[in-house]
Amino acid sequence: MNQKQTPQSVPAAEFEVTDDVSDHASHLFLPEYLAAYSAGLKKSQMSDSASRRSRFFHICQMLQLTRGIPGSTAEAGVFRGLSSYLICHYLRREISTFNGETHFMIDSFEGLSPPVEKDGEFSAKRHSEGAFTRTSLEHVRETLSDFSGVNILKGWIPDVFGRLPQQNYRFVHVDVDVYEPTLASFRYFFPRLSPGGIMMCDDFGPWAGNKWAGCIGAVNEFANEMGVVYAVLDTGNVMFIKR
Ligand SMILES: C[S@@+](CC[C@H](N)C(=O)[O-])C[C@H]1O[C@@H](n2cnc3c(N)ncnc32)[C@H](O)[C@@H]1O
Repeated sequence: MNQKQTPQSVPAAEFEVTDDVSDHASHLFLPEYLAAYSAGLKKSQMSDSASRRSRFFHICQMLQLTRGIPGSTAEAGVFRGLSSYLICHYLRREISTFNGETHFMIDSFEGLSPPVEKDGEFSAKRHSEGAFTRTSLEHVRETLSDFSGVNILKGWIPDVFGRLPQQNYRFVHVDVDVYEPTLASFRYFFPRLSPGGIMMCDDFGPWAGNKWAGCIGAVNEFANEMGVVYAVLDTGNVMFIKR
């Protein structure tokens, strides 16, 4: 967990990076987050990675920023339930009786939908390897067993959206990796965000070697189509704010 990253030169920068990124990682100094994350790892049976740990930290931080904004929360792309576990943990900090009723989780539980040309070779390879198939609705129900009221919808995006209730959202996390469901999720959720609500997306980068090209394409296409701006966080997650 505390593996140090070797300082290295940055191709586009005219200076040598001399410090260690982990020295500045705020989450490493927040025991409450680390405790929740480590409980989530155990429940979901996922392993730690520095990238996952800090990406999910940002999800929790942005979720907290939407406190008091009306609406439900949702996650498109759940896999084994780790990020949804953290979302529910932080919602319970707001309301101690929170039991998951206003959190909606959507996944095929059969892996990625078929990539299209815009997704590029990496996604095609991951799809053919059966990435993200080692999960099930039952596994996620168990991961989220501390929040017995959560809504778990098994199905393919976008068809599964038809089964969601008509409602507004305060916070949505989109993490489906490939172009078509990412864009479809943005188009579904963003218009339903309450003012001040936040929609985040994973896997954007743009770090050197980012391989989820379809996700980058979907973010840019959506931003152009809606005339909205987004911010890319240091960990590669993107955030849109509804004004
Ligand atoms: C990176 S994983 C999600 C990781 C998760 N947020 C976590 O806590 O670790 C991506 C998920 O998107 C799901 N997915 C991809 N395409 C989908 C689609 N068209 N419909 C529903 N789920 C999809 C996959 O089944 C996979 O579980």
